[in-house]
Amino acid sequence: MGELKEITLVKEGELHRLVLDQVTNLESTEYSDKVDLSRGEVLSPSGTFDSIATATNCLECHRGLEMHDMTGQRMEGVRMGNVAGKVVLITGAGAGIGRATARMFAAKGAKVVVTDVDEAGGRATVDSILSAGGEGLFLTHDVSSEEQWTRILADAESRFGGIDVLVNNAGIYIIAPLADTTLEQWNRLFSINVTGVFLGSKHVAPYLVKRGGGSIINMSSVAGLRGTAGHTLYGASKGAVRIMTKDIAAELANQNIRVNSIHPTYVKTAMADYGAAIAGLTLDEMGERMVPLGRLAEPDDVANVIVFLASDESNYLTGSEFVVDGGGTSIISV
Ligand SMILES: NC(=O)c1ccc[n+]([C@@H]2O[C@H](COP(=O)([O-])OP(=O)(O)OC[C@H]3O[C@@H](n4cnc5c(N)ncnc54)[C@H](O)[C@@H]3O)[C@@H](O)[C@H]2O)c1
Repeated sequence: MGELKEITLVKEGELHRLVLDQVTNLESTEYSDKVDLSRGEVLSPSGTFDSIATATNCLECHRGLEMHDMTGQRMEGVRMGNVAGKVVLITGAGAGIGRATARMFAAKGAKVVVTDVDEAGGRATVDSILSAGGEGLFLTHDVSSEEQWTRILADAESRFGGIDVLVNNAGIYIIAPLADTTLEQWNRLFSINVTGVFLGSKHVAPYLVKRGGGSIINMSSVAGLRGTAGHTLYGASKGAVRIMTKDIAAELANQNIRVNSIHPTYVKTAMADYGAAIAGLTLDEMGERMVPLGRLAEPDDVANVIVFLASDESNYLTGSEFVVDGGGTSIISV
């Protein structure tokens, strides 16, 4: 990520703060009167474009701004609808998919709130974000606690001024035959995988409304789409997340809040290690057997989809399910 600078300007009575990414040779104040928001153009003082930011996002109106050169061509490297400047809260980001997602958001200029029950893991995620020049905050958080949701959302708002995106990622995985699955396991797993998503969606929605809308991304699984032996408990929880996503999407659509679910196959984290150990296979063997593309997912394969669902480029998508499985669910291998 390049150096990140901000320009604040008032245009026709409206305050706009622009995040400039990958700035070269730019003294930001020189540009304050050079930005024509009505046309979405940024002009350099010299009229040339060799020292212009390659991406902007307005922190006030949350729009990506496209930049054009003097001939009207869109400038190379300009990204519309990116996530720069958005405040993104990710649960369970002290490891695995959540950590990779937090790092990717930060690298793209988002302000990332990392939450986890694992304080050491969560702090390590934020340390890696800060040392790469990004912005991040860690908050200790058990997603099954309503009181803790209330606290961490208020803390996140007071630090970053609001919340634009919630990634309900935290989850646990138990594989057990039906006969051996205990009620205690059932209640514990549901309190995290399902109640956590319910509480997060319920309590973050008013914060998103204050920003004029936002995106909620819920981590389900291919186990929420298809049955697997030993997965009564986990599969039921991910199936609940799948349909809860659509119910909440229906309810919040008129407030410009989008809600979508993600359904990965095995992703190379501690969870896949656990599944592979039970199956008596290596991760490579599982990838070859289960996935038409021949490999298990990397955490970044999932993070890429999450970042897209948080960006303005996905602003017509809600109530949908995004299968990230290298073709495993939809392709029959013969
Ligand atoms: N890895 C996979 O193969 C895979 C596949 C499909 C879906 N998923 C889902 O993706 C999500 C992330 O999985 P992962 O593979 O990164 O797992 P992981 O075990 O590597 O990380 C999960 C994180 O969630 C945290 N966590 C656990 N309980 C919590 C709680 N009560 N409150 C807050 N944080 C808590 C853990 O401390 C950990 O840091 C989960 O919802 C999982 O079900 C994973």
